[in-house]
Amino acid sequence: MTNKVLEPTIISTDPGIDDAVAIAIALGDPVMDVQLICPIAGNVSVEKTMLNTRLLLTFLGQSTRIVQGSRKPLLRPLKDASGVHGKTGMDGYPFPKAKVPVDTMTPAAVAMHETVVANQQPVTLIGIGPLTDIALFIHQYPGDLKKIKQLVLMGGALGRGNLGVLSEFNFGTDPEAAKIVFNSGLPIRVAPMEVGRQAKILPDTSEKIKHIGKVGDMFYALFSKYRGGSFKTGLNMYDALAMAMILDPSCFTEVETHVAIETRGELTAGASLIDLKGYLGKSANASVAVDVDSKRFESWFVDAISRTANL
Ligand code: RIB
Ligand code: CA
Repeated sequence: MTNKVLEPTIISTDPGIDDAVAIAIALGDPVMDVQLICPIAGNVSVEKTMLNTRLLLTFLGQSTRIVQGSRKPLLRPLKDASGVHGKTGMDGYPFPKAKVPVDTMTPAAVAMHETVVANQQPVTLIGIGPLTDIALFIHQYPGDLKKIKQLVLMGGALGRGNLGVLSEFNFGTDPEAAKIVFNSGLPIRVAPMEVGRQAKILPDTSEKIKHIGKVGDMFYALFSKYRGGSFKTGLNMYDALAMAMILDPSCFTEVETHVAIETRGELTAGASLIDLKGYLGKSANASVAVDVDSKRFESWFVDAISRTANL
């Protein structure tokens, strides 16, 4: 057993099949002390992301605090990604009835504040869905920001998007929230879409996952319904890369750079301008992964899933 100091952690998430993998990896890690999970609307409605979080934690035998997140972006309508994750948002496996409760009365930003003040240590904040609740937390509790160790995000695109021509789903669903986040001064690290596509889970790795106990069997069943890639061409486990940036950062090449979010463009709202060449002349506000050792990531991924099997 590690004698490393536990890291208090909060996850804002929209499960979502790749979110489910990322959440399970976080819960299975001996150092990451997940104290709060805030399911938000994104891949599917907030009702479904809440239920999926409860189903997953019940399956894993975990009782982490779950607090409902926002049901829509700050200003814009929600366009979900059920085409990628299935109608339920986590299609493919007959989960046992959800037993873990969810708090639908406390606003997610308040729960984040409660978690930060309850810890002596700085808190790691992870955003693997739209950034609405993280933006609300930043806006309502500026005094807490000095106690945020790091904010690690899956989102943005170095080039073309997967929500719009230039917008990636997480940042593009709520551009105003993303802009608040990148203007906050927090220590931000970003796993953009391209590193997710570079580190696909290839067929032989999916086969290894399949045989990692009931957890592996469950994830393999979800993978069979996931449309973010395929068994044959490789699966884009986007959100797991945010966890890998924290748990095995040596997989990545990160660059300090300026990230700006377009919010006013009639055709380009939601675009993440990851300004590697400094065209905007602005100081760095994030550390962005621009490359990933996909072999190392895949080996880490299998080990991380194996750890969840021992929960
Ligand atoms: O663009 C990929 C991101 O959008 C991932 O977080 C996926 O779960 C979806 O939310
Ligand atoms: Ca997600």
